[in-house]
Amino acid sequence: MQTVLITGGSSGIGFEISKYFAKAGYQILWVSLLEEELQSAKVVLQKDYPDSLIETLVLDLSKENAAQETYDWVQSKQWRVDVLINNAGIGTYGFANEQSLEKEVAMIQLNVLSVFKLTRLFLKDMLERDAGTIINISSNTSFQPVPKMSAYAATKSFVKHYTESLVEEMKALKSKVKIMTVCPAAIKNTPFKNAAKMQKVKTFEGLASTTKEEVAKDVWNGFQKGKSFVASGAKLRRLMWLTPIFPHSLVQFLLRDELSEKE
Ligand SMILES: NC(=O)c1ccc[n+]([C@@H]2O[C@H](COP(=O)([O-])OP(=O)(O)OC[C@H]3O[C@@H](n4cnc5c(N)ncnc54)[C@H](OP(=O)(O)O)[C@@H]3O)[C@@H](O)[C@H]2O)c1
Repeated sequence: MQTVLITGGSSGIGFEISKYFAKAGYQILWVSLLEEELQSAKVVLQKDYPDSLIETLVLDLSKENAAQETYDWVQSKQWRVDVLINNAGIGTYGFANEQSLEKEVAMIQLNVLSVFKLTRLFLKDMLERDAGTIINISSNTSFQPVPKMSAYAATKSFVKHYTESLVEEMKALKSKVKIMTVCPAAIKNTPFKNAAKMQKVKTFEGLASTTKEEVAKDVWNGFQKGKSFVASGAKLRRLMWLTPIFPHSLVQFLLRDELSEKE
């Protein structure tokens, strides 16, 4: 049986992606923050896929040692992770100088360092087996500077650049390990926007917005095709054809509007 480890698998796009893996008969390992949510999500998924094996670990991935704890948990159970999906992440919204320094440091730890460390830990085993897939969830905010999401966009740029570099390294090493970067557009229907205090922000209904269902489908299709990069959301993919011909000032004007709040 194949095994997928999905951080933040108990809600949002992580949960939607889990449905595809459950349907395909994978054992699912979830690592998330909230015990209650992990347990209720497990009940919901097993209702639709009664044979699915789901194991859970309650862990704060913004803590320094969390990636190692995750890896040690997997090792202690003698599971082999065939697919790692680094999905857990949070956002902050507003002018940089108005943000809580503590919260943004925790976000960097979660969105960057845990992704980096988990990738390093599991990539080593995958390279030894010359098999496996790592999928890192970045964002369309990684494409350019994003006013009012400066630190979040920078974390997602790290994820995109790092992951895309690994794709090239796998080619250089002639490795069969697959690496995929996913950049979803703003997603209307996950808890992310509430957690980031972005309930009124236009982008979730804006030019490129998408849904958790569409993102999960794009991730699954990209994984099936062995893609290295997925821009998620049909509207985003259409816009991406146009943005290279837009002047930087126009892109920033549109972004300022997208990132502003509805009246
Ligand atoms: N929503 C968007 O517009 C959007 C757009 C592009 C990219 N993304 C990215 O997509 C990913 C998933 O987001 P989503 O939209 O599906 O939102 P979500 O439902 O809020 O998912 C975030 C997941 O991360 C987990 N998590 C948060 N803090 C954690 C911590 N300290 N330790 C362990 N787990 C933690 C959450 O677990 P608990 O529920 O247990 O707290 C939750 O399962 C994120 O990386 C996000 O940056 C989102």
